[in-house]
Amino acid sequence: MIGRLNHVAIAVPDLRSGIETYASVLGAKASEPQSLPEHGVTVVFVELPNTKIELLEVLGDESPIAPFMERNPAGGIHHICYEVEDIKSARDKLVEKGARVLGDGEPKNGAHGKPVLFLHPKDFCGTLVELEQV
Ligand code: CO
Repeated sequence: MIGRLNHVAIAVPDLRSGIETYASVLGAKASEPQSLPEHGVTVVFVELPNTKIELLEVLGDESPIAPFMERNPAGGIHHICYEVEDIKSARDKLVEKGARVLGDGEPKNGAHGKPVLFLHPKDFCGTLVELEQV
């Protein structure tokens, strides 16, 4: 059902230092920071030949990544994103198999402007999973 790995998201305490690590140290191409108030994060995309790394920084008081940053002050892998062709059909199949969808269960527009859903980490090997319709 799942397709390609779309991105790995890493939450960081400081985006500038995250960009520095990926651009200057690792030699990857990083985008300009993009504030997404409706998602409570500022993001930077790092383009790799076969996938992307999404660096996330807390934005605002209601940021969904704030609790993660409290548990992981130095940052860490926050979620991985798999591509699906039809997000509602993927969701229905997963729910049938007992998986829990976070929030109200309806796809939202994600950081790439495409419909996304998040799946409960306890149902997926301890990893928060994002599905993105491509
Ligand atoms: Co993501």
